Amino acid sequence: MPKITVLPHAEFCPEGKVIDAPSGETVCDVLLANDIDIDHACEKSCACTTCHVIVRQGFDSLDEPSEIEEDLLDQAWGLEAQSRLSCQAVVAEADLVVEIPKYTINHAREH
Ligand code: FES
Repeated sequence: MPKITVLPHAEFCPEGKVIDAPSGETVCDVLLANDIDIDHACEKSCACTTCHVIVRQGFDSLDEPSEIEEDLLDQAWGLEAQSRLSCQAVVAEADLVVEIPKYTINHAREH
């Protein structure tokens, strides 16, 4: 089973963590199932940016993001070339290294 290495994040995962990630599950669901309480303000419906992660390794193993996801990502805090919305990024066969950005912009609540 692939693994996700989560880099340390002061609030959600101060020590960092390595977790099992069943193929076919979203990165967001895998994090939540492992007590990494990443924000998911729109309940994973691809309508906010709070579940934004940066995929430091394994990015190319993921499906292409949809246009809607890309539009949302444009508004995400700390956007990088390897940014994804974790509720839309489905684990494939490869291990991933994921960074949770320091901040989120909660569009779902703002609008
Ligand atoms: S939880 Fe809102 S886009 Fe992922």
